[in-house]
Amino acid sequence: MDRIRIVGGNQLHGVIPISGAKNAALPLMIASLLTDDTLTLENVPHLADVEQLIRILGNHGADISVNGRRERQGESYARTIHFISRNIVSTTAPYELVSKMRASFWVIGPLLAREGKARVSLPGGCAIGTRPVDLFIEGLTALGANIEIDGGYVNATAPEGGLTGGRYVFPKVSVGATHVLMMAATLANGTTVIGNAAREPEVADLAKCLNAMGAKITGAGTGTITIEGVRSLSGARHRVLPDRIETGTYAMAVAMTGGDVILEDTEASLLDTALEAIRRAGAEISETNSGIRVVRNGAGIRPVDIVTDPFPGFPTDLQAQFMGLMTKSSGVSHITETIFENRFMHVQELARLGAKISLSGQTAKIEGVGRLKGAPVMATDLRASVSLVIAGLAAEGETMVSRVYHLDRGFERLEEKLTRCGAHVERVSD
Ligand code: EPZ
Repeated sequence: MDRIRIVGGNQLHGVIPISGAKNAALPLMIASLLTDDTLTLENVPHLADVEQLIRILGNHGADISVNGRRERQGESYARTIHFISRNIVSTTAPYELVSKMRASFWVIGPLLAREGKARVSLPGGCAIGTRPVDLFIEGLTALGANIEIDGGYVNATAPEGGLTGGRYVFPKVSVGATHVLMMAATLANGTTVIGNAAREPEVADLAKCLNAMGAKITGAGTGTITIEGVRSLSGARHRVLPDRIETGTYAMAVAMTGGDVILEDTEASLLDTALEAIRRAGAEISETNSGIRVVRNGAGIRPVDIVTDPFPGFPTDLQAQFMGLMTKSSGVSHITETIFENRFMHVQELARLGAKISLSGQTAKIEGVGRLKGAPVMATDLRASVSLVIAGLAAEGETMVSRVYHLDRGFERLEEKLTRCGAHVERVSD
């Protein structure tokens, strides 16, 4: 199994190209099931999660070609992928596929809307929390779906004549359930209004693509989304928006090691709250023509308290990385996680590098230490593992991160991007 070896202590200097967003690419790929025409997605990152979803869509009958030909692992950035689901050959998403990645549950929306039925395995729990699907079920029921859970599967059927527009107000913000309800409503009879919708940029990106396919969606990116159902959707060409989590991760890496890096092909407006927290911690951040410049020269790292929240709040997907940064601050900071109940698995691994962190319920208290020292650590989930990488960059000596398959789910060419900026990072195959 691969490991990542880091020798810390170098500052980062240079340019890092930011990839297309994993969490936008996944729902966009799933939206291709809504049409029998070709959906072409540009700027799709080359990640294990994308490859897994390609397998899942293939199981439903999608014909998928990458830049017109299949490519070997790691060959290209920013791939263009064509999806054609002329016929849906199966409306079942089996346990073996869905259990590998929660987002694959989201096929329930397009399958139900287009075929009138879907049988999708429950995704089950995962390392960061229980992550139930009650909101998906309530939302789809509001569109007239009949839903039963049987033998670990969600069986959903639409009434004769298809789903009908409805009104649903989420009791709690859910990104995935907003994606699914929005996709399902595009082909429903009549108008759907979704209240307390997720406002994440990835939701607005999905709506933009669906509208290019002929959907009639307004309000995506705000708390209220209105979808006027249409009879069918056509193909379209869409460019996946930049990955705000990757952007924030590298910004925090520079804030932690010191240096001067341009994050290219990204937009500050996608992560204002996180950038503000990094600024308060002591880095200088400015916008350039094509992205963001992050600089920290000499100044120490200041303690900053944060609370994770749905967009536009501080993203839970950057919480672990910010904790990494705070371990080297000059004082005491607090980080409160409000989205997932078990997203502090990085705490004990950061402690192996010398961090001083104590947990009380959903709040971590971080007492900054002057120096971190390299150690063997274990990746536990995607964002936790990258927090260990950036902490390793700022630690003295060698850090060896094991279980790096977590990183490969969401960070494209991590070693290469960091090495080009002067970091000492390499993949070691056993
Ligand atoms: C998306 O997950 C992201 N995944 C996550 O990123 C991200 O952490 C999360 O949104 C929050 O921003 C993708 O976009 C592929 P939710 P999602 O439904 O949609 C509860 C990463 O590292 N909930 O917004 O699954 C849920 O348990 C990943 O890239 C219910 O209670 O998250 C959680 O507490 C990890 N019932 C909260 O809502 C439901 O039916 C928010 O989850 C659905 C969710």
